[in-house]
Amino acid sequence: MDPEHGRAPTASGSLHGRLALVTGAAAGIGRAITDRFVDDGAVVIAGDLDAAGLDALQAEHGDRVIVQVCDVTEESSVAALADLATDRGGLDIAVANAGKGAYSPIVDHPLESWQEIIDLCLTGVFLTVKHAGRVMNDGGSIVNIASLNAIQPAEGMAAYCTAKAGVAMLTRVAAMELGHRRIRVNTVAPGLVQTNATSAFFMIPGVVEEFVENTTVGRFAQPADIASMVAFLAGPGSDFVSAGFFSVDGGASTKRYPDLPGAFSRLGDATAP
Ligand SMILES: NC(=O)c1ccc[n+]([C@@H]2O[C@H](COP(=O)([O-])OP(=O)(O)OC[C@H]3O[C@@H](n4cnc5c(N)ncnc54)[C@H](O)[C@@H]3O)[C@@H](O)[C@H]2O)c1
Repeated sequence: MDPEHGRAPTASGSLHGRLALVTGAAAGIGRAITDRFVDDGAVVIAGDLDAAGLDALQAEHGDRVIVQVCDVTEESSVAALADLATDRGGLDIAVANAGKGAYSPIVDHPLESWQEIIDLCLTGVFLTVKHAGRVMNDGGSIVNIASLNAIQPAEGMAAYCTAKAGVAMLTRVAAMELGHRRIRVNTVAPGLVQTNATSAFFMIPGVVEEFVENTTVGRFAQPADIASMVAFLAGPGSDFVSAGFFSVDGGASTKRYPDLPGAFSRLGDATAP
């Protein structure tokens, strides 16, 4: 037992004995984070809107996951997800991951669409930090998933860029407020990751090529690339890391964002996921 922190130490990189919560856990990056946490020895409380996806997660991981349908935009739903930790010894890790983008130039952007993205990508993270923080053990770790678009503007993505920039600042405030309990809070900012959310990009000629050209490493990411950074921030190897912003974008933040209006006009389609 660690006499200062009052808890059993883990091997570097191991999450053995830890209880984690992940939102948007049924697919894409959230699913990869959940898989990685389970592989590293954690039990994961997995929340998502997608009941079938959660069933598949449960079928694969059995009692290493506790699944519950959750809408991160509804406070009672997020509170109920977090409360699953209270009779299991409290949370050690939380990842506010659920989110999605929308394409619309500002002057055409319907208010409902703007509000939907802000509710999901920013308020959903606030609610997750609020309720995970409430049931988290001292010394825990919270990771908020933002985006390259938190720091790199993309035409037609005002709501998403604004929400993700807000996540980065919310993270820093939360790190200050929760620091007295030795809870660390960090932002991970992925670049292009191949998931359902980006399937449209992969269907529009030239967009993925432009993304890749804008990286320094010459490829787009798979969800496991993001899970790797999240696992580091969740684990004991990052014990001195808080209020940080970690780009996992293959160096794309050094360059410019792809020309989405051009791409969508080439496609003759004014909407995107
Ligand atoms: N894929 C990328 O290129 C990329 C890049 C940067 C940031 N991100 C961010 O990573 C996160 C995950 O994205 P992804 O690509 O894995 O998306 P995805 O669409 O593959 O998976 C998102 C998951 O979140 C769930 N979800 C959606 N709304 C929800 C809600 N209201 N409550 C609970 N769950 C909900 C979905 O059912 C789905 O299982 C998002 O925050 C996204 O903005 C993704």
